[in-house]
Amino acid sequence: MTAGELAQILGAFGLDDEKVHELGDGGPRGSRYHVLGPEEILVGRRFAALPEELGESSPLLLVVRGNPEDTRLAMWRNALWPLVHVGAVLRVEGGRAQRITLSGVESIEGTFDFEGAVLFGRRTEHVMSPDATIEKFDKNAPSWDGRPGGAGYPHFRWMRRLVGRFASTPGVAGSSVRVLDFGCGAGWVGIEAAKEIGNVELSAFDPSPEMVRIAASNAEKEGGIVFDGRTGFGEAPPFGGDHGPAFPLVFSSGVVSFSPDVERWLDGLTSTVEPGGTLVVGDIHAGSSGFRRRRRRKPLLPVREMNARTRESIRAGLEQRGFVHLRSGAYQLTRPIPEAMYVNERFLGGILTRPLLWVNRLATWLDGVFGSPLQDRFDSWVMHLERRSD
Ligand SMILES: C[S@@+](CC[C@H](N)C(=O)[O-])C[C@H]1O[C@@H](n2cnc3c(N)ncnc32)[C@H](O)[C@@H]1O
Repeated sequence: MTAGELAQILGAFGLDDEKVHELGDGGPRGSRYHVLGPEEILVGRRFAALPEELGESSPLLLVVRGNPEDTRLAMWRNALWPLVHVGAVLRVEGGRAQRITLSGVESIEGTFDFEGAVLFGRRTEHVMSPDATIEKFDKNAPSWDGRPGGAGYPHFRWMRRLVGRFASTPGVAGSSVRVLDFGCGAGWVGIEAAKEIGNVELSAFDPSPEMVRIAASNAEKEGGIVFDGRTGFGEAPPFGGDHGPAFPLVFSSGVVSFSPDVERWLDGLTSTVEPGGTLVVGDIHAGSSGFRRRRRRKPLLPVREMNARTRESIRAGLEQRGFVHLRSGAYQLTRPIPEAMYVNERFLGGILTRPLLWVNRLATWLDGVFGSPLQDRFDSWVMHLERRSD
């Protein structure tokens, strides 16, 4: 790779002043690049140097000459995981370059000498760091709240209702139930549970102050819910332990895949459930056929999708921590339903929203009746567990 080619690639990622060394050359930790040779053996000397040579927040550029197919780039992205998460791709064809991220495609000015593709990544530890998580969710908080009246909104609310009512815990006449929403986002799971049970003191936390603010406002708008919102991470929760008594009922929906340290996160979750208490936990399913296909074919995936777990692995982790599994469910049909929903929302103005939602509801109901024999046909799982009394 010539100095000119490298400078153009760096410029396309906005790294004009970056000093980048070739991978495997030793020297101080920092930014690195590597041009793939024909052998493509990841266990080679150069890749073995990656953990040592790549700086904490420095970029890695993996250059693939020619016109590689997406599946080949996806294979390299998978090979770099879990050390590095690929967040952008540069594609150069006929001298014209496009930078692709999960937010969209951008054309880069100028004529490029190089022909091929570049995977751009940083250490997963950096991408999933507390600061990065807070910044990401503060910025995207309104979209995680859903848009009432939007084509996807009924589905968004249905999923939260499903999880919030999964344990179907009855309210006790006269006394209020203390409920915790662990990684609450916009708060809808806890709010759905509160509406179902009736008399609830709802506590909730999230790393993002903006999310907590939206959750508090949603709880207030629903009316009659006593709400205590705090900021914090699941690995060191701001409730339970040193922060007050544990809870008889805890929900965590769609959170564990964002954790950079799942063992600590499970410890944190456990510390918030009182002995004899109920836990409902759910998330995306790493083994769904749709997600597996995406990992084979798409060069760019959200970090959470790469980091997702199966229901069994989370169940095993919780059983080791003294939980008894009572019931599991699967929801949100996998491919091609999410793709159809995307087309429905983006291009069809929501005319298929109701039919698609009913297909999903029916499939989830059948899953409940037959005991989840086809869980890989669903993108999400949910479990109801009880913490053993000591
Ligand atoms: C997909 S949203 C789900 C929100 C909500 N539970 C729901 O079901 O709508 C994930 C939430 O997890 C939060 N989060 C990310 N990392 C976390 C962590 N390590 N511990 C607790 N919450 C985390 C994010 O800030 C975000 O609000």
